Amino acid sequence: MLDDDKDARKSNDKKALRSARWFRKDDLPGFIHRSTLATAGWSRQDLMERPVVGILNTWSDINPCNMNLRVLAEDVRTGIIEAGGIPFETPLMSLSENIIKPTSFPFRNLLAMEVEECVRAYPFDAVVLLGGCDQTQPALIMGAVSAGVPFIFLASGPATPRSATGGNLANATGVWRMVDKLRAGEFAEGEFADFERNVMGTVGHCAEMGTASSMAVISEALGISLPGSSLVPAVDRRRNQIAREVGRRSVILANAAEAGRTLLDGRAFDNAITLLCAVGGSTNAIIHLLALAGRAGVDLSLERFDEIGRRVPLIANVQPAGEHLTERLMAAGGVPALLKRLAPLLHLDARSVSGQTIGDVVSAAEILDEDVIRPLDKPVRIGETLAVVRGNLAPDGAVMKVCAAEARLLNHRGRAVVFEDVQTIADRIDDPALGIDENSILILRNAGPVGAAMPEWGMLPLPRHLLAQGIRDMLRISDARMSGTAYGAAILHVSPEAAVGGPLALVRDGDMIEFNLAERRLDLLVDSDELERRRAQWQAPQPRHNRGYRSLYSRHIEQAHRGCDFDFLRGAEKDSLPDGLFDGWVGGW
Ligand code: FES
Repeated sequence: MLDDDKDARKSNDKKALRSARWFRKDDLPGFIHRSTLATAGWSRQDLMERPVVGILNTWSDINPCNMNLRVLAEDVRTGIIEAGGIPFETPLMSLSENIIKPTSFPFRNLLAMEVEECVRAYPFDAVVLLGGCDQTQPALIMGAVSAGVPFIFLASGPATPRSATGGNLANATGVWRMVDKLRAGEFAEGEFADFERNVMGTVGHCAEMGTASSMAVISEALGISLPGSSLVPAVDRRRNQIAREVGRRSVILANAAEAGRTLLDGRAFDNAITLLCAVGGSTNAIIHLLALAGRAGVDLSLERFDEIGRRVPLIANVQPAGEHLTERLMAAGGVPALLKRLAPLLHLDARSVSGQTIGDVVSAAEILDEDVIRPLDKPVRIGETLAVVRGNLAPDGAVMKVCAAEARLLNHRGRAVVFEDVQTIADRIDDPALGIDENSILILRNAGPVGAAMPEWGMLPLPRHLLAQGIRDMLRISDARMSGTAYGAAILHVSPEAAVGGPLALVRDGDMIEFNLAERRLDLLVDSDELERRRAQWQAPQPRHNRGYRSLYSRHIEQAHRGCDFDFLRGAEKDSLPDGLFDGWVGGW
């Protein structure tokens, strides 16, 4: 790996730096730019000779998943200076998954826009992306891809939660299990309070294979973060060492002046999807990868997830599909060891930001625990982990995390019980008048990207009377997302969604629905004439937002099978420099 200071210094000036347009000119703008940053301690010589690296930081103390990034940024800064670069740290919007309202997902695109415009507007020759919580990771990467500069990603790292008795306790998966027990009357209120005090444990992102861990490990498979970096716990000092190395590496990237998106070709996405399936990762990562591919100009469809999913077994024994937390996965060798196990299924010639190929990473890796990283022929569970289904209920597709569902529900026919929104679920799920039994299929609609900005409502709660009978899973269908830490037979991201007239809008209580995983089929068993009659009566909901970002969002958001990016943000700018009067004038003078 080219992480040596001397290499970094030697490689300075090899290519024209982007920052030269700001600092290396003997004209009025050059004078103003240099004199402004002299205030920050950088000399004329520094600014004229050294590459500039932006540290884009989503640290916030309202976001404990990202809270350690404040400290890690200092280590990145040290690494940049050691390698001869100039670091400028820039704060960005932080998306605190459990706090932000109404839901974090719509802000992914806003943060991605902020990143893109921030990078284009400032003299960064490369950027280090610091993110952790669910949406900050994809947003940073999407924005940097579109901005067209070299970049390297560093996640905050998983938290280290512990139960009151010292055992492993998954942050969020544990919460979902406890909620079911509480609703079933099997868990005392006092015990729950104890759980509440201990569940988050430390700073860092969720410590099971939820969305944040999924996106973090995927970033290694995509080749945009350093090998072995993603699963080191947030509070582990090795993460500080990695941050320093990331800083040093970013200077080499700045001098090489190769846009980060050049790593993101079809091979990189195949590798990422393979790893996602092998770890039983979050269905949210499917949306994020589709959006990212759209930015990188890679032709990726839902079908590719299904094709790869059919041949990749679940080999990582981590929650929510397995037993352990990500800390054990790290101790078993982390992502490099997972890639080694998956080597026959990977493109080993794909490149990494480390300067290596994925094949090099695999060669250097060791698998240290065969129970946590299982052999391909002894998986945690037989069968696919993720699947894409279609049918007259989801013409453009829907997804399912198969490994999180009870097997009895994978070939199922049942009567629909329809909920128009999440408040109705809260009010009526326990209502005996609905006649819900264990074979019923729960439908939630109007929760898609246009309908409700696609919150994680797809794991609909089960009625108390069924929980009390020991029922822990039912087939649930929605145009919503589901937390990566959740589990259950949930068919998600139904596309097109109900709010734009997708067939989900036409389902009525009592309709029969058939789901057949083996055939990848999801059908509403209502004859087509009746469906046409219902369609003629259907009325589109009135737009709920007429101003600001929310209005922009509902007018330009794409459907789930395209990644929920804005239609005007697909692709990237050819030139990473700002337009207009850049060279001739400076605002304020
Ligand atoms: Fe932030 Fe789970 S709540 S990663």
